[in-house]
Amino acid sequence: MISQNIKKQIVEQTNIVEVVGEVVKLTKKGSSYFGLCPFHNDKHPSMSVSEKVKMFNCFSCNTKGNVIYFVSRYNNISEDQATIILAKRLGIEISDASSKEALKEERLLKVMNDATNFYEFYLHNTEEGVKAKAYLTSRGITDEIIKDLRIGLASSESNLLNQALKKNNHSELDQVELGLVKIDNKDQAYDVFRNRIIFPIENNNGQVVGFSGRIYTKSDQAKYINSSESAIFHKGQILYNFHKATPTIRSNDKIIIFEGFMDVIAAKKAQIPYGVATMGTALTQEHVKNILSLTKNIVLCFDGDSAGIHAMKRSAFVFANYHIIPKAIVLPNNLDPDEYLKAYGSQALNNYFSQNEKNVYQWLYDLAKKDFIKGDLESVERFKKEVFECVRCSKENTIIEHFIKMLASDIEISFESLMNDFGKIANFQPTLKPDDLPKNRVTTPKEVRIKRKIFIAYDVLLKHMVYSKLKFIEFMDKMGDELYIDSSLTTYFEIIKKMEVFYAENELMDEQDFLNIAKSLDLPNKTNDYYVFAKRILDNKMINLNDSDEFEQCLNTIQKCWSDLSKTRLYNKALSSGNIEDIQKFESLRKENVKVMSKEEK
Ligand code: GTP
Ligand code: MN
Repeated sequence: MISQNIKKQIVEQTNIVEVVGEVVKLTKKGSSYFGLCPFHNDKHPSMSVSEKVKMFNCFSCNTKGNVIYFVSRYNNISEDQATIILAKRLGIEISDASSKEALKEERLLKVMNDATNFYEFYLHNTEEGVKAKAYLTSRGITDEIIKDLRIGLASSESNLLNQALKKNNHSELDQVELGLVKIDNKDQAYDVFRNRIIFPIENNNGQVVGFSGRIYTKSDQAKYINSSESAIFHKGQILYNFHKATPTIRSNDKIIIFEGFMDVIAAKKAQIPYGVATMGTALTQEHVKNILSLTKNIVLCFDGDSAGIHAMKRSAFVFANYHIIPKAIVLPNNLDPDEYLKAYGSQALNNYFSQNEKNVYQWLYDLAKKDFIKGDLESVERFKKEVFECVRCSKENTIIEHFIKMLASDIEISFESLMNDFGKIANFQPTLKPDDLPKNRVTTPKEVRIKRKIFIAYDVLLKHMVYSKLKFIEFMDKMGDELYIDSSLTTYFEIIKKMEVFYAENELMDEQDFLNIAKSLDLPNKTNDYYVFAKRILDNKMINLNDSDEFEQCLNTIQKCWSDLSKTRLYNKALSSGNIEDIQKFESLRKENVKVMSKEEK
């Protein structure tokens, strides 16, 4: 790659209006120029070009960038190549290592283009070509498709391509580097592709960077051979038909990924132009990045055999890294799209595609369910494992929960125990990050807040109960049992127990009685100071003994606080256990509580 510094220099020194103006008619309006955008079907001038900011910008299709980007997009060449063209224009010689690389790339691309021309010529102008065309016709590949895809033919002779390329002054070294030619043990060059129909493979700029050759006569050789990796051909980055399909992927906001390029061709015939195929390799992150730059609606169409199913899972998994849930289409009777089209026609194929998209996880689920026999433990286990494996890849809690619920109902096992199993197998992480989970049972700030409220309310109740047996009885009726709930209430609990004994024998209690009760609890081995505690309550001037509403309110507050506290604790417990259903239950509960609380606060 040419360095950013050099690119910056070229952008600064180039007059973008001049460069764009050579291919687009521009009209001056204010400080900018306007013209028809060449990157979409523009009816009114939507593209502005500004010499001041050195940018072009189409406000209709949103294509924008600097002059290097414009030249690369307009000519379907790489940005490095565009930079070299613009540098030549300025009379600047780029001499860093990256520019040498770019020059080499340009040279190799030229070799590939000439090779493509040669293969095309050979298909259309030779005896062998007649036979090859007959084969293509038998497969329903029309002249129009042949021309569009630049399909060609490699001769059965040993080195026709090598000779043709030499005539065009391409070095044997470059031919070898591109995997077009090999040198035998007698130092003779021979063509790698022989006696094969040639499918040129374009990079994302539409330049031919590799070939795939298919046998068309009886042969015990591999059905397809591909160009080897080279400086310009990286299988892990290239999808067959990606460049040609780009506009329709954009306009349909959809892409279909096939296994083979015969499938891409079949789809084209069925008016589905937005199909692409990997080069017989698995889908890579690079592929996915390219795809997602155009659309997020992904359809996977693979064969229904075990290889296809494996590819389906793998592809779904790669997309899951980007939180994309693809759809799946699998044709009936293990047919590939090309075979389906041959059997039922292009309209049928088109119909099938428009009616049979299914969430890929649903598809995998249904597949796993096929061999499930109710009550047969072995098949239950297998079904469960397969579902676990698939949904685990999704990384989406919604998918996981949805399908495990479905599984729970299908195999009649509780959702909870399935989730438990799943957690063990999948190392499943709940929505919340591990950092959010309390490590040990600790008192959270929320718990502390609730407890403080409870203590204050108990103080109020206690003081009221010192002066009223009636209130004491009411308290015992309503909350006697609750005193046992929490160890932090021990002090209240023990005093109230003693008060109960006192009230059993007396109708009235006074402050001194209360203090005596507290004192009687101050045993030497106890750490609590009950007397100080009792004194504090009696001295609390905030408590208004004449306000009986206050007493009622505190009873209610305590009851509500206890339930809040329990919920908070259960929520924290759910968090630390990682049980997704518990967490979600409490998340919604907590939301409800927040609503109730804010209503109350108003
Ligand atoms: P047809 O048999 O011509 O209909 O092609 P297809 O696309 O249906 O082929 P198939 O489903 O067998 O394989 C899918 C893809 O895998 C092909 O498009 C190739 O990219 C790749 N492939 C298949 N066979 C071979 C092979 O023998 N060698 C290599 N390198 N790739 C192959
Ligand atoms: Mn096929």
